[in-house]
Amino acid sequence: MLNEIAQCFTTVPPGVVVDATFGLGGHAKAILKANPSIQILGLDQDADAIANAERMIVDDASLRGRLTVRRVRFDSLNAVLEELSIKEISGALFDLGVSSPQLDIAERGFSYRNDGPLDMRMDQRGELSAADVVNSYQESELAGIITENADEKFARRIARAIVAARPISTTTHLAEVIVAAIPAPARRTGGHPAKRTFQAIRIEVNKELEILARALQVAIDATKVGGRVAVLTYHSGENRIVKQVFRSSEKDADEQKIGSPFVHESQLGTRRVHRVRVAQYPSEHEQTQNRRAKSARLRVIEKALAEARG
Ligand SMILES: C[S@@+](CC[C@H](N)C(=O)[O-])C[C@H]1O[C@@H](n2cnc3c(N)ncnc32)[C@H](O)[C@@H]1O
Repeated sequence: MLNEIAQCFTTVPPGVVVDATFGLGGHAKAILKANPSIQILGLDQDADAIANAERMIVDDASLRGRLTVRRVRFDSLNAVLEELSIKEISGALFDLGVSSPQLDIAERGFSYRNDGPLDMRMDQRGELSAADVVNSYQESELAGIITENADEKFARRIARAIVAARPISTTTHLAEVIVAAIPAPARRTGGHPAKRTFQAIRIEVNKELEILARALQVAIDATKVGGRVAVLTYHSGENRIVKQVFRSSEKDADEQKIGSPFVHESQLGTRRVHRVRVAQYPSEHEQTQNRRAKSARLRVIEKALAEARG
């Protein structure tokens, strides 16, 4: 959804847009190209992503002065804004989940397809790895995570099988244990049988759902009038949190009117100044080109004009 994302930020006021999940910088570059009056502050907790971004800035003169990057988890956004003396931002993008290098490099341990150590840390300095979760969590804890983070209906059986197979030290061993724990007919539907459990463990290792609401709220609070916060989600857990945070921003507006930044466009009749877009889905073409795009949802919220509030 590169174009949709770039278009999203063409109307925002001049200033800094935060790319909270910089990755390989594809979205950041598209946003910079589409809107010459903004700069990007790129965040990523992955050392490789930031090293790559720093090389991009050296190699591409057009990025100098327009792209600044910091290696942080995105719930530290406030601290970075303070460090850079940025009082307000023009918007923020959260493209959640893993990047292609994280999935493709076997040593990172994210993929059930490539044999690697059970790692899954997006931030290589993190203390908790997938091996810790897999080998030391109680069976009930594991089952809870696999259910909550991935809606896996065979979570209990998978958790029992993992505990019985300990110690597990590689991604392929874990994948085999998961596949064997799922009844044969169910293995044939819904993609790779280990996919959901790997997602659930990754979310636990990186505390992805715990920090999302807070980080989104910080971004929304820091956004200036006319600015936008866009979020690309890839599974129902993320999607639920984004919907809740956006909805509570709208609700605030409804109840308090003055001093509250967002209302839903349905409350405004023809005045198109505040709006929350409903989720957008990738085109069919994109879904066939890119496996990850199939589950992607884009949600955008825009800060209201002050005079239209109340
Ligand atoms: C889906 S990729 C982003 C791809 C990016 N939009 C691009 O165009 O290349 C997600 C990236 O966000 C990073 N990330 C995920 N959660 C993060 C968090 N809480 N704080 C900082 N970075 C995070 C990951 O390390 C990964 O590099």
